[in-house]
Amino acid sequence: MTDLFSKFDPLIEQRDTLLKTGVTDPFNLVMERVESPTVAICNGKRTILLGTYNYMGMTFDPDVIAAGQTALEEFGSGTTGSRVLNGTYVGHRACEEALCDFYAMDHAMVFSTGYQANLGIISTIAGKDDYIILDIDSHASIYDGCALGNAQIVPFRHNDIDALEKRLKRVPDGAGKLVVLEGVYSMLGDIAPLKEMIAVSKANGAMVLVDEAHSMGFIGERGRGVAEAQGVIDDVDFIVGTFSKSVGTVGGFCVSNHPKFEILRLVCRPYVFTASLPPSVVATAATSIRKLMDSAGKREHLWENSKRLHAGLRQLGFTLGTDEPQSAIIAVIMPDLEAGAAMWEALLNEGLYVNLARPPATPAGMTLLRCSLCALHSEEQVGEILGMFAAAGRATGCIS
Ligand SMILES: Cc1ncc(COP(=O)(O)O)c(C=O)c1O
Repeated sequence: MTDLFSKFDPLIEQRDTLLKTGVTDPFNLVMERVESPTVAICNGKRTILLGTYNYMGMTFDPDVIAAGQTALEEFGSGTTGSRVLNGTYVGHRACEEALCDFYAMDHAMVFSTGYQANLGIISTIAGKDDYIILDIDSHASIYDGCALGNAQIVPFRHNDIDALEKRLKRVPDGAGKLVVLEGVYSMLGDIAPLKEMIAVSKANGAMVLVDEAHSMGFIGERGRGVAEAQGVIDDVDFIVGTFSKSVGTVGGFCVSNHPKFEILRLVCRPYVFTASLPPSVVATAATSIRKLMDSAGKREHLWENSKRLHAGLRQLGFTLGTDEPQSAIIAVIMPDLEAGAAMWEALLNEGLYVNLARPPATPAGMTLLRCSLCALHSEEQVGEILGMFAAAGRATGCIS
């Protein structure tokens, strides 16, 4: 018998080698208590959260919590059904209406996760004979959507407008073309030149899908994302997003003005063949989305936090993923996995949680400490965070 697990041996060995150094497992942290969007208790210690994607700090918003509690009491703990059978409650419709209002678009479809939104939309609209032209650094859910639909995949170099144009021109005449882009790329926290890329895509007859998972709520005048900030939101055919970041709960969605969009509810397998979100979840999402529309003050503060952290880390001598802060994600580039894990643990011991990211999730084989800021981090907390980076960096030899 061939052990089907043998393909995991290299990863098992890498993990064992790392843990033998005595380092805490960076992928197995337990939060014992969560006090607020910015503070939790981990290993019995107060820990500042700087790796949760809770950009707008909505998880403890009193209105959001009250909406969830009411829905839980009035509609029960779950729908036990698919959206196309018994799983559409008034709350799911209200959530889709909130999304239509938020994006000023005609249609919205709520999925059980953002992963499933990409999986479902991409695989359903781009099939076997269609071409998907995508940034090589696209999220796993985008790649998995391409694979599920069995479309022809044509990757292009990250954020390279000329490379996108060249690939588009090579697609056979008459073939269906979908360009898939992200507003913010979550590993390095850099944004896409959507304006130019969408223009090139349209000039070459492609439809465009933009995943705004890491920009919703924060980037753009009304928090609609990078497409809004760059003035091209009306040229995007499909915006995909998630409730698991700025919205502060779980779920995913796609919004669009395409006149035939509603047919997707019948043909999109990751929408049809899975249970819908619990009523309490869609109630929290709808309340949060409506509040995000009027959160200009929080957006401003989050930009200040991002600039402050970026400048401070740079001053300490860390190498960062972007020259300027472009989003709420600041990536600190580590020399290798061992150094990254040691630094991650030293930060945790200081009382700071960040994400350790490593290949294959990261571009160019990089090990990263990814910091995601929250609009509710105070100026003092950002100061504390910089102090912890200074201490951990010196203790591990990452900076002098
Ligand atoms: C760009 C991007 N798209 C989609 C997703 C999936 O979101 P969810 O957590 O809702 O499945 C993520 C999650 O990390 C993401 O980073």
